[in-house]
Amino acid sequence: MSVPKNLLSLLADGEIHSGSVLGERLGISRAAVYKQIQKLNNLGLGVVSTRGVGYQIQFPLELMCSDTIVKYLDPHVKKCISKIDVQWTVDSTNSRCLEFVKDNSRISYACLAEHQSAGRGRRGRQWISPLGGSLYLSLSWQFVGGVEILDGLSLAVAIAVANMLSEEYLLKRVKLKWPNDIFVDNKKMGGVLIEIVGEAGGPCTVVIGIGLNVFLSNASGREINQSWTDLHTVLGRNISRNKLAASLLNSLVPLLQGYEHGGFAVWHEKWARYDAFIDKKVVLQQGVSDFSEGVACGVSDSGELLLEINGCRRRFKSGEVSLRGA
Ligand code: BTN
Repeated sequence: MSVPKNLLSLLADGEIHSGSVLGERLGISRAAVYKQIQKLNNLGLGVVSTRGVGYQIQFPLELMCSDTIVKYLDPHVKKCISKIDVQWTVDSTNSRCLEFVKDNSRISYACLAEHQSAGRGRRGRQWISPLGGSLYLSLSWQFVGGVEILDGLSLAVAIAVANMLSEEYLLKRVKLKWPNDIFVDNKKMGGVLIEIVGEAGGPCTVVIGIGLNVFLSNASGREINQSWTDLHTVLGRNISRNKLAASLLNSLVPLLQGYEHGGFAVWHEKWARYDAFIDKKVVLQQGVSDFSEGVACGVSDSGELLLEINGCRRRFKSGEVSLRGA
């Protein structure tokens, strides 16, 4: 579904706009405006319409723009990313990056979108990706070493995101749920999906996808089947998504440059600061009926989850962890 871009640009100021004025400015009928409003709502924007008054989105929306992102990038980071591509709608920014690296594996490419029609989460789940409500960012990066040097990378990325939110947005309540869920006030606010192309021993390319809820309408939120929050709620103010995107890239690039040699060791002790479940009784689900119960005791030096089960400390590489009894 295509995005009615001109209408969205007019509504982005957050003011009330009457159907007739919108129609005049766009050179279309009021009925056509109404149809486009429906389209925006079907894409998840959350336009409120008041009979006899007009249309309005709940908060002003800064549309994503590559030039603005570049303006906020650290000079060194700007040099490392060859292309910053902002799309209105894509299936998934990760899929776009994976397509791109097929022919350009050595180039670092960032893809962002206002909307994803098939946003992907970890473990084959869907990532609800309404129009304008979030940040959808993927970055490709080539590692000279093989996939074996990438242990713990997804945790390190989540730590870098948490550090950035804590330092730049003074969001001290940010927590991480293993392996890389971003939580605030016990609600999920974002996640990381890392996909790898390459072989053991040889060079490999990684696509790092980050989804952060910025402002989700209640209608979009209803589609998420766990408790969720967004940056607008936890900060109590509106933020620039372009600046947020640049801050993420400014955090990711130095991490990726250092990871080739330093690996997870540099990040290991930082995990404890954000660990949502440390010392809590948890359940880890691996298969449909494969559950392990224990006390969470942090992560290993390669990013595995550590659980104390019947007095023994065990390591787990994958699974979904939740509080016992939750
Ligand atoms: C998770 O399940 O917690 C990971 C969610 C990752 C979502 C992001 S949004 C940008 C990128 N494109 C996708 O399709 N997924 C990731």
